[in-house]
Parts: sequence; structure tokens; C-alpha cells
Amino acid sequence: MRTDHAMNRFFVLAGAVLLGIAGFAVVVLSFERPPVRTVQIGHRGVAMELVYNPRTVAAEFARQQAPAALDPADPPESDEDRASAIYENVPVLGHLSVAQFGRIMQAMTEWLYPGQGAEGCNNCHVPGNFAAEDVYQKHVARRMLQMVHQINTAWRSHVGDTGVTCYTCHRGQAVPAYVWSQQPEHATRGGMAGIQVAQNLPGRDVGLSSLPNEPFTPFLFHDENIRRLTLTPRPSGNLAGTMNTEWNYALMMHMSTSLGVNCTFCHNSRSFHSWESSTPQRVTAWYGIRMLRDINVNYIEVLRDRFPPHRLGPLGDTLKANCSTCHHGVYRPLWGAPMARDYPELNLANFQRAAAAAPAAAPAVEPVPEGEPIRLPAN
Ligand code: HEC
Ligand code: HEC
Ligand code: HEC
Ligand code: HEC
Repeated sequence: MRTDHAMNRFFVLAGAVLLGIAGFAVVVLSFERPPVRTVQIGHRGVAMELVYNPRTVAAEFARQQAPAALDPADPPESDEDRASAIYENVPVLGHLSVAQFGRIMQAMTEWLYPGQGAEGCNNCHVPGNFAAEDVYQKHVARRMLQMVHQINTAWRSHVGDTGVTCYTCHRGQAVPAYVWSQQPEHATRGGMAGIQVAQNLPGRDVGLSSLPNEPFTPFLFHDENIRRLTLTPRPSGNLAGTMNTEWNYALMMHMSTSLGVNCTFCHNSRSFHSWESSTPQRVTAWYGIRMLRDINVNYIEVLRDRFPPHRLGPLGDTLKANCSTCHHGVYRPLWGAPMARDYPELNLANFQRAAAAAPAAAPAVEPVPEGEPIRLPAN
């Protein structure tokens, strides 16, 4: 009898210790270590707040610094001073002075291939023959130069005066850290109609939720309708409506994660639909979605045949951009560092000889739907 008592007591004690350890682990692993702060971003009383942890912000701050600009170079004084006067294959940058041309070559090398010195040039050039067109990276870089120009001019509605450089996406890597491509399930199960499309697995791109993992093909490549809320009652059992909502939700999770914000950065949760009670940031985001469709279709996917197979996704499409590609987890890439201002070389606007190769005029942006009052940004 006495041994039974002792045994019982032992089990109770052991159980209590185990429970304690498990409880401690749950608390430590599932809650963030304080402090957690909030800032009000909407009107008083509507609970639109941004939740943040100063420790995380400080760590992010260090990671998101733009590199110092190279010394400026003088613009051309005469046509003889232009790069086109001495170089052979310069349809995109030939209008620059020779000094500016050298400066942007050096900057691109540092932005994509840092620390390699003069060797870095050979990532895009045949050693000893800069005019040769044999290296695929050179063709890609040429299109990317046009893309940057397009972003900074046609999409000021999104990037404002801050603009972007190659560094905004590349950050010292040949292939940016955040890219996406079509996933096999997507093809075999019929896109948005499939129930299991890469679902029920936590996805990095959608805030580790088990929503559809690749909402980018429909929304950031094709212009699938994002606004799904019906304001009239639906007949019961409308599964398509629910499924579409999951896709929509996946994109919204991606946008929030990419920017490091909550839904209330853009929406008043009283009505996710209403533009009237949304923040101006939602308008900026609306343009961002259209901007991504433009660059993914017209500047990146058009390069498909240029890339070697190992640089393409599993289904053979290019690696494309989403909100994270520029934003890297913060609501203004590089905390809004206006890097583009330091590189007038990236503005191809005044170059007549580029006319043939230059990007098409600004794409017609769909008008904002009627009946939805919207505060348009200044530009
Ligand atoms: C990211 C790719 C890339 C890197 C890295 C790069 N270049 Fe270039 N380079 C280009 C592109 C694209 C052109 C063509 C520009 C045009 O179409 O106007 C070019 C053209 C040139 C030309 C003109 C050659 C001619 O006669 O047509 C020279 C010279 C040159 N680069 C030098 C350099 C040097 C020096 C470096 C290293 C400091 C360098 N490049 C690094 C992409 C690159
Ligand atoms: C909006 C984001 C973005 C910006 C801005 C951007 N790139 Fe890219 N770049 C990409 C993506 C995405 C890829 C990957 C494409 C792939 O591999 O299918 C890429 C790939 C490349 C590659 C091919 C690398 C390799 O080794 O395969 C080169 C070269 C390149 N970019 C040059 C540039 C240059 C030069 C600039 C600035 C003039 C620039 N990029 C600006 C998104 C961007
Ligand atoms: C960076 C801004 C931003 C963030 C953050 C954001 N959204 Fe959105 N949301 C938008 C924009 C822009 C649209 C409209 C897109 C369009 O029409 O192309 C939208 C549309 C929606 C819609 C569809 C509304 C309708 O009329 O059918 C819902 C629902 C929604 N968001 C929910 C959310 C949820 C939930 C979150 C948080 C997980 C979130 N959003 C985070 C900008 C944002
Ligand atoms: C090509 C790079 C790029 C891509 C891709 C991009 N953004 Fe941005 N975004 C920027 C820049 C640059 C700014 C800063 C604009 C400024 O300072 O006025 C910005 C600003 C914003 C802002 C305003 C933040 C504020 O403080 O007012 C929102 C919201 C935003 N982006 C959402 C998005 C969403 C959502 C996506 C994906 C659908 C996206 N962005 C994709 C470059 C990009």
C-alpha cells in the first residue's frame, strides 16, 4: 500500500512538472516578448492601429539601409561627349556622358555583384569585349533599365518621388531574395477553380497561413478581380464565392506580410469594401497591384527565352516580382530612402535615340470604379 501511495505521488508530481514545462514552452513559443506598442493610424475610436515591437523595428532598421551613392558624374556637354559617340551597342544608355555611363555600370555592378571589383563587370560582359552581346545578363539588364524607368515615370502613383533603383529589388544579389513563379499544382488542378491548389500547407508568401500559396498568377500577372464582397445576399451553397474569397485573402495576407503591417494599415475593418473609410495607403496599394501586372508581364516574362533553364521556375516561366521584392517587410522600401534621386542616369526620358527601344507610353490604368469615392494621390 505504501509503495502505491509513493508511486501515485511520484506520477502526480511528474505530471505537474511536465505540464509546467509544456505550458512554459507554449507561452514562450507563441507570444512575442514585450514590449509591444501600437500607433493610431485611423480616426479616433475606430481602432485602426499599427502593432509593432521596437526591438524588431530596430533590427529591421539596420538591415534596410541604402548604400551610399557614388560621386556624381557630369552630364554631357556636347554630342561628342556622349557614350554613343565612342561605344558600339548602347541603344539604351548612349545619351549619357561617358562619365555617367561608367558611373551607372559601376553602380549596377555593386548593386548586383558587390565586392567583386572589376571582375564584377564580367557577370554581364565577355571579358575584354564590352560591346559583345553574348552574355544573357546583359540583355536582361537592358530590359531592367527600361523597367526601372517605367516604374519611376509611369508608376509615380505608387513610388512617388522616392522611386526605385536596381538595389531596391536586388540588394546585392543576382536574383532578388523575394521572387515567385507558377507552381505545379496550379497547372494541374486548374488555377483558381482547384480546391487543393497548394493549400493546407503553411506558405511563406502568405504569412504562413494555409491559404492558397500562390495568389500571384491570378492577381499580380493576370487581372483577376480582387473585389469579391457581394453586398447583396447570395443563394446558399455558393462555394465559388468562398473559394474566391480564400484567394483574395491569400493576396491580402501577402500584402500585409510584405509591408510588415496589419490589415488596418489600409482598411477599416468595419467594411473591407468601402473606399471611403479606407486609408490613402489602400489607394497606393491599388496602384501597386497594377504596377506589378505591368512589370511582370511586359518587362520580366518577355525575357523568358533569354534566361537559362536553371533561372526559371518549375513550369518554365520567369521568376517574377511581388510586393516583397521591393518592400522586404517594411511599408516603405529602404524606409523611403530616395535612392533614385542620386541616379539621374536611370532616367531615360530625354534620349531621342532610345525612342525605338524605349518603353511604350504609360499603360492606361483602369479607371477607379464608379460610385466608389477615392482619395487619389497627388500624381
Ligand atoms: C548588370 C549587368 C552589367 C554589368 C554588371 C556591367 N555592365 Fe556594362 N553594359 C551593360 C549593358 C546592358 C550595356 C548596354 C547599354 C545600352 O544598351 O545602352 C553595357 C555596355 C557597356 C559598355 C559599352 C560597350 C560598347 O561598346 O557597346 C561598356 C564600355 C561597359 N558596359 C562597361 C562596363 C564596366 C567597366 C563594367 C564594370 C564596372 C560593366 N560594364 C558592368 C550591362 C552591365
Ligand atoms: C522590381 C524589382 C526589380 C528591379 C527594380 C530590378 N530587377 Fe533585375 N531582376 C528582378 C527579378 C524578379 C529577376 C529574376 C528573373 C528570373 O530569374 O527569372 C531579376 C533578374 C535580373 C538579372 C539576371 C540575373 C541572373 O544572374 O540571372 C539581371 C542581370 C538584372 N536583374 C539586372 C537588373 C538591373 C541592372 C536593374 C536596374 C537597372 C534591375 N535588375 C532592377 C527584379 C528586379
Ligand atoms: C497595403 C494595403 C492593404 C492591406 C495591408 C490589406 N488590404 Fe485588403 N485590399 C487592399 C486593396 C487595394 C484592395 C482592392 C484591390 C483591387 O480592387 O484591386 C483590397 C481588397 C480587399 C477585400 C475585398 C473588398 C471587396 O470590395 O470585395 C477584402 C475582403 C480585403 N481586402 C481584406 C483584407 C484583409 C483581411 C487584410 C489583412 C489580412 C487586408 N485586406 C490587408 C489593400 C490592402
Ligand atoms: C518596384 C518596387 C515596389 C513594388 C513591387 C511595390 N512597391 Fe509599394 N512602394 C514602393 C516605394 C518606392 C514606395 C515609397 C513611395 C513614397 O515614398 O512615396 C512604396 C510605398 C507603398 C505604400 C505607401 C506606404 C506609406 O507609408 O504611405 C504602400 C501602401 C505600398 N507601397 C504597398 C504595396 C503593395 C501592396 C505592393 C504589392 C501589390 C507594393 N507596394 C509593391 C515600391 C514598390
